[in-house]
Amino acid sequence: MAKSSCSLILILSCVLVFAFMNNSSAVASSGINNYRVVNLGAKPDGKTDSTKAFLSAWDKACASVKPAVVHVPRGTFLLGNAIFRGPCNNKATTFRISEGTLVAPSDYRVLGNAGNWLSFQDVHGLNISSSNGILDGQGTGLWDCKASPGKSNCPTGAISLGFVNSSNIVVSGLLSRNSQLVHIIIRGCHNVNMHGIRVSASEKSPNTDGIHIQMSSDITILNSDFSTGDDCVSIGPGTVNLWIEKVTCGPGHGISVGSLGWEMQEPGVQNVTVKTATFKNTLNGVRIKSWSRPSTGFARHILFQHAVMVDVKNPIIIDQNYCPNNKDCPRQVSGIEITDVTYQDIQGTSATEVAVNFDCSSKNPCTGIRLEDVKLTYQNQPSEASCSHADGTAAGIVQPTSCL
Ligand SMILES: *[C@@H]1O[C@H](CO)[C@@H](O)[C@H](O)[C@H]1NC(C)=O
Ligand SMILES: *[C@@H]1O[C@H](CO)[C@@H](O)[C@H](O)[C@H]1NC(C)=O
Ligand SMILES: *[C@@H]1O[C@H](CO)[C@@H](O)[C@H](O)[C@H]1NC(C)=O
Ligand SMILES: *[C@@H]1O[C@H](CO)[C@@H](O)[C@H](O)[C@H]1NC(C)=O
Ligand SMILES: *[C@@H]1O[C@H](CO)[C@@H](O)[C@H](O)[C@H]1NC(C)=O
Repeated sequence: MAKSSCSLILILSCVLVFAFMNNSSAVASSGINNYRVVNLGAKPDGKTDSTKAFLSAWDKACASVKPAVVHVPRGTFLLGNAIFRGPCNNKATTFRISEGTLVAPSDYRVLGNAGNWLSFQDVHGLNISSSNGILDGQGTGLWDCKASPGKSNCPTGAISLGFVNSSNIVVSGLLSRNSQLVHIIIRGCHNVNMHGIRVSASEKSPNTDGIHIQMSSDITILNSDFSTGDDCVSIGPGTVNLWIEKVTCGPGHGISVGSLGWEMQEPGVQNVTVKTATFKNTLNGVRIKSWSRPSTGFARHILFQHAVMVDVKNPIIIDQNYCPNNKDCPRQVSGIEITDVTYQDIQGTSATEVAVNFDCSSKNPCTGIRLEDVKLTYQNQPSEASCSHADGTAAGIVQPTSCL
């Protein structure tokens, strides 16, 4: 009995495997439609433009009433600008990038000012799952251009991966490297869960934030590693209910709420938790930053908990007087109201003397700042804290001595 049911299972799985190996683009198996980019003309040679094949696989998967999977196998696929549009006829479209590498054109002028290299728009129910998949934005040429004297001729560049006006998204196991601009952007989205994400770019690469979030709610980032030339995670206006846990950052500019307050009318940032994070040789650790311009925006209910700082220049910083080159904001003050920000169990070393710096708006002083069990040293000595228009409390061991 046991034996025969075993062989039955074997036969069944063989049939399944054969069904999966069928060359026709769609194969129905257990209520899922499968689409293979290689059956639609994609070439894993890293040279042939496979954009059409990917878009065609996506269009079929998106049109499917049943849940659908787009399969990207091992190999390197060259893709130009591609927008994967919804809404789809199903609420569970999967992009399975097994061990595939997607590369952008090596000539940065091709994407130039395209906005996003790859983006998903108006998709509700998406699973991008990968084991060792890579997105390679090939940004080095553009970074060099921007670092050269004639940099005014350089295009802006493209964000590698965008999620726009979408919801119910899971992204896992993906490495994004050498993006031309921001690696991943989440804008106008609800319920996005990213885990096991890695971002890798040179410390000197300009504007290559790891993940940027804006106008989005219920976002989770777990178990992810960032090393890049700008913010590891940047949290823009209109971000509500964000949870970041078990991440490492470095090199990079830290995890940053902001820049806020560029616009006069701006939605606020609310309910952000950053928990269990390690910052190594970064410019900032946990930062809140706003332009010194009038604005209706705010940042409130923010918790930074269990962070380790290793030679971080500004481990804890609020900067409300951001105005690079004194352009577009001279003699103005920030309208952003910062309230209820807690720093709990933040330990490690600062690479500068001032490890805690609250430089708040003279018009809207920071309120409800809490320091709890903070210990940051500078060259094996106690570090310093600096406060300007900041109000709050300290509890537990707090080193440097609180200036609140
Ligand atoms: C492939 O699929 C087609 C249609 O779905 C079917 O007619 C054909 O028998 C299949 N071939 C194999 C080898 O499974
Ligand atoms: C499947 O496609 C490959 C390459 O496109 C081809 O070599 C092979 O003969 C096809 N197999 C079947 C069963 O059609
Ligand atoms: C996403 O797809 C992967 C691989 O198919 C699967 O293991 C995972 O459970 C899926 N996640 C969700 C939320 O559907
Ligand atoms: C996303 O939605 C906003 C607000 O409805 C709209 O203004 C914007 O054009 C949309 N973006 C895209 C790319 O569809
Ligand atoms: C804050 O966000 C978390 C998810 O990040 C959520 O679980 C919690 O309910 C939110 N709190 C409030 C008061 O909305």
